Amino acid sequence: MSESIFVRACQQKSVPYTPIWIMRQAGRYMKEYRAVRDKVSFLELCRSPDLVTEVTLTAANMLGVDAAIIFADILLIVEPLGFRLDFIKGDGPTIYDPFRSKTDLGRLKGNTTAQALAYVGKAIQQTRSQLPEDKALLGFAGAPFTVASYMIEGGSSKNFEHTRVLMKSDPEAWNLLLQKITAETVEYLSMQIQSGANAVQLFDSWVGQLGAKEYRALVLPHLMILCDELKARHPNTPLIYFGTSTEHLMNEIKKLSVDVIGVDSKVELSKVGEQLSDFAIQGNMDPTTLLCSKEIIENEAMDILKTMEGRKGFIFNLGHGILPPTPFEHAKHLVDFVHRMS
Ligand code: CP3
Repeated sequence: MSESIFVRACQQKSVPYTPIWIMRQAGRYMKEYRAVRDKVSFLELCRSPDLVTEVTLTAANMLGVDAAIIFADILLIVEPLGFRLDFIKGDGPTIYDPFRSKTDLGRLKGNTTAQALAYVGKAIQQTRSQLPEDKALLGFAGAPFTVASYMIEGGSSKNFEHTRVLMKSDPEAWNLLLQKITAETVEYLSMQIQSGANAVQLFDSWVGQLGAKEYRALVLPHLMILCDELKARHPNTPLIYFGTSTEHLMNEIKKLSVDVIGVDSKVELSKVGEQLSDFAIQGNMDPTTLLCSKEIIENEAMDILKTMEGRKGFIFNLGHGILPPTPFEHAKHLVDFVHRMS
């Protein structure tokens, strides 16, 4: 397959225009997605390669974005790790009997992730074969801190109390948990790449909660192993690291062997542009912009494009996932505008 514009931008090569995709681009803001979800639960959808192929391709084709992201969830991996997962309507994710102390290390399972999540690989294969050649297909996984935080809290959390208490009071148990998640994530992402993913993104959505010292001591070493191992196995497949509220962690994040760093809308692109000169940058329009008028969308998009003009290695995206109340035409308008103006 010839190199897509998206992959070229990840590798900081020249591109004819700025590539764009949207985090959570297949989701509840689209009526086609809601129609599928009326018939099956979220997990049933994730486990059906045919439906995953359908929602992934529908979103990418209708938006006209440069990359499709396989429809899945960062929490699917907790099941092969030995924890039971459900998504209860309106409540977000639930992980039953969460990990709370070193005695729970005995409940951790391993070595079956790539096999247990083979349905994701199958969906990647099918989607890749039906996606236009010039579009990239992204695979993804949760980064170890963010996955561990769900396993420990038992679901979404505001203050991450259980997670941070465990990190402080039993760093040994924490490190063993992260080691396990790291090893399984390498196998999972490697399987996704072998199945046809052209690039992979690590979502470390909530890591910005930590101070730089905690990140350096208890998160970075695991991430370095994960990224190094993946790069050793798949040197030509771009690796993207994304987190929110990570500005204070950039000097640590720079140590990772990734190709692209994804930033949220709190970050000033003019500042990180220089700081992260060795990396492609992905971001970072505020998702609420898409709830505003087309004029406001154009102004904000133009601002970002001007700031990044001439920089090799820029991928346009939102700073975080697209919001469910977003009108589809606004998302489409943004994609067309970025293509036209860059
Ligand atoms: O980007 C894409 O289009 C691919 C699909 C994707 C989903 N989740 C589908 C989804 C991706 C990349 C994710 C990643 C994910 N999942 C993250 C990291 C990204 C981020 O937003 O920070 C996190 C933290 C999760 C965990 C998760 N999944 C939560 C907290 C929830 C419930 C909250 C919510 O938005 O409802 C989910 C459910 C989920 N994952 C939905 C979708 C489309 C909504 C479920 C539904 O259809 O009812």
